[in-house]
Amino acid sequence: MTSSFHVPSVSADHMDELLAGRRMRRNRRTDWSRRLVRENTLTVDDLIWPIFLVDGEKIREAVPSMPGVYRYSVDEAVLEVERAAALGIPAVALFPNTDPSLRDATGTEALNSDNLICRACRAIKEKGLNVGLITDVALDPYTSHGHDGIMEGETILNDTTVNQLCHQALIQAQSGADVIAPSDMMDGRIGAIRQCLDANGFRDVQIMAYSAKYASGFYGPFRDAVGTNATLIGDKRTYQMDPGNTNEALRETELDIQEGADMVMVKPGLPYLDIVRRIKDTFQVPTYAYQVSGEYAMIEAANANGWIDGERVMLESLLAFKRAGADGILTYFAPRVAELLAKK
Ligand code: PBG
Repeated sequence: MTSSFHVPSVSADHMDELLAGRRMRRNRRTDWSRRLVRENTLTVDDLIWPIFLVDGEKIREAVPSMPGVYRYSVDEAVLEVERAAALGIPAVALFPNTDPSLRDATGTEALNSDNLICRACRAIKEKGLNVGLITDVALDPYTSHGHDGIMEGETILNDTTVNQLCHQALIQAQSGADVIAPSDMMDGRIGAIRQCLDANGFRDVQIMAYSAKYASGFYGPFRDAVGTNATLIGDKRTYQMDPGNTNEALRETELDIQEGADMVMVKPGLPYLDIVRRIKDTFQVPTYAYQVSGEYAMIEAANANGWIDGERVMLESLLAFKRAGADGILTYFAPRVAELLAKK
């Protein structure tokens, strides 16, 4: 059926007049021009690779909810970090899957200087690689209830937990960690850990604070990877942030900076880019974002179904962090992206 609308054809001259000569598409016509006007780019220097550890030898265990991600025994992790170094990835972040038999109510294993993460630190450090070693400070991989702190009844005790986190940070620093990354969201832990590190001769160990960490549904696959999903009692809403808040993220970040954080982080990533932008604009400090396990899993799942071009979405999602002002991204895609960027 032909419509009865009258559509007058617009002449080029008329269009020039309408646009006053401003044709936005001119700059987009060619590849060289698109590259020339591009405001943000992703480079290998933006990448931090989170790596999961497991006890044993010669183990590479697939994480089912994170296709392409593995848990590595220490010997294998060393090889992966060597690969990261060869690819030019600036830093890796280690997360242990602690044997269930070693987990207890207070996370005692976190203070064992021979625990999985400490052994991995020493083995990696021995190689003398030009890669930063970031270690996770929080009790969840070590507690039988899966919480980041020590519990009394239903309550996660703040100050008691902070004391233990300080001790945990010290043994990690002693094992060779370059950057201590507290992901627990207890109040005052950045200042307490800084003081403790300084008092024990670790003045040069950096702190990357998980400053704005939200109580999020996007952490599910991570909890599979470190084995806390099965054991977690309740949720983490009494210490992680409410997803409805943004001003609170600025207050959290301000406190962490005052307490001595060298770098701050927002987590999850893509759903919280507004927070990244506000923090970067407000404080102008090194600001990172964590593209968390659920974000990774969604992209992988859609790709596996043929619903999206996974590689393209991977690069686009990481570029979005740069656009939002992030100085770097913790991402499970790190080695794959680094390989791709090296080929370009
Ligand atoms: C816990 C911790 C979590 C992540 C990093 N550290 C999960 C949680 O808070 O339960 C999530 C990372 C991810 O989902 O990729 N200290």
